[in-house]
Amino acid sequence: MAVSVICIAAALAVLVPGARGLDRRADFPPGFLFGAGTSSYQIEGAYLEDNKSLNNWDVYTHTQSGRIMDGRNGDVADDHYHRYADDVEIMHNLGVNSYRFSISWARILPRGRLGEVNSAGIAFYNRLIDALLQKGIQPFVTLNHFDLPHELDTRYGGWLGGGIREEFEYYSNVCFKAFGDRVRFWTTFNEPNMNTKLQFMLGVYPPNRCSPPFGDCSGGDSHREPYTAVHNVLLSHAAAVRNYKTNYQAKQGGSIGIVIAMKWYEPLTNSTEDVRAARRAQSFEVEWILDPIFFGDYPREMREILSSNLPNFTSEEKNLLLLNKVDFIGLNHYTTIYAKDCIYSPCELSTYESNALVYATSGNPQIGKPTALGGYYVVPEGMEPAVMYVNHRYKDATIYITENGYSQHGSTNMADLMNDVERVNYLQGYLTYLSSAIRKGANVGGYFVWSLVDNFEWSFGYTIKFGLYHVDFTTQERTARMSAKWYRGFLTGSSQLT
Ligand code: NOJ
Repeated sequence: MAVSVICIAAALAVLVPGARGLDRRADFPPGFLFGAGTSSYQIEGAYLEDNKSLNNWDVYTHTQSGRIMDGRNGDVADDHYHRYADDVEIMHNLGVNSYRFSISWARILPRGRLGEVNSAGIAFYNRLIDALLQKGIQPFVTLNHFDLPHELDTRYGGWLGGGIREEFEYYSNVCFKAFGDRVRFWTTFNEPNMNTKLQFMLGVYPPNRCSPPFGDCSGGDSHREPYTAVHNVLLSHAAAVRNYKTNYQAKQGGSIGIVIAMKWYEPLTNSTEDVRAARRAQSFEVEWILDPIFFGDYPREMREILSSNLPNFTSEEKNLLLLNKVDFIGLNHYTTIYAKDCIYSPCELSTYESNALVYATSGNPQIGKPTALGGYYVVPEGMEPAVMYVNHRYKDATIYITENGYSQHGSTNMADLMNDVERVNYLQGYLTYLSSAIRKGANVGGYFVWSLVDNFEWSFGYTIKFGLYHVDFTTQERTARMSAKWYRGFLTGSSQLT
């Protein structure tokens, strides 16, 4: 075995010019989860099949297609709803032992708690979960990955309305009851810190609310609404965790967490101001979500800067948060960028929180090579401090890297799209620094590549590619890229895909 891994390493070093010292699966702790991820709206398609109702992304892409780079939508996407069995076969072939996917709320409860549970929706996820388990692949399930039944969006104003909390608690309960006998890993929300900023600060995700100078939209309040939305998300999350811990965990033996987006921020200069700006950027990103969950309140710095725009928790709500801690933290980590102070010294402001968190954007040096996703650079070294930071601040939680991946421009020629050397180097580099963080004592339980297959990348439509597998969206044919072969080699010792 050791010999064959060395052979693969040698072979890949030839295959992948510039490949660094390969970290092997054996360098990670026993029982470590290695997987790939997707989300329902991005891959399922079947947007109106089997009683599913419209969700916010269906309506948005149909009514405002001009806001999607290629004008397209997730009506069919990867047609995973019909091809899930083939996709499970692909995962089995890859050698992963876990698969991260999300459940479509509108498929389970088309009308929220006022309507019936949709048995066809339940049946679909039962089929998927059973197929995964049959192949020894652990389902790692997200309850909410950006999509919201349209009816609830309209009724409550999405995450801005307090009523959405009971809806989420009801929906999550339906899922725990239906699938919890087989699901060991639950996460309540995917990237609420990123999603709410894109929805309510920059206005580039539905419902496109923002106020000047943040973006090209109106009717919102960029200084207040993202914080209100996160407040509702946090209380929805805590209620779902309470229910899971009280009524399901002991019987079902699973665990529950939340997934956040986490960049690493490097001070642009050694000045005290820039060092503080990097710290502050992290408060407005990671601590915004995790401090209330672990310590019962938002970070002090956010309070000072946002004052009355940041909601308060009642003592009952604080207890709800504090008594229902997560079992693990999911980190979606892709990149590192520079932070520059713009509160105490004048500089060009980014489009983010004008006075609060400001970091270097245009005109400042990049740390690593750019990827197809604007503002995301290849900086493998950032993985280690990011993980160490979270490990240090939220001591008793296990960390999963729930997303890490490399995007290519769809316009790249076919040979380069398939021979994705950059993606192999990216994954290999980030894994190297992840294993280094683990050696330094970080408590990490798993790692998921984003994404298993090319899919609908939100505002970018299908113009950028994240997949280990290329997807021809006319024929729906999936073809393994070089990176899929590399991942299989890393996981199993043989890069041969059947
Ligand atoms: C964040 C999101 O969770 C996922 O949906 C998205 O496709 C990737 N990262 C890449 O942007």
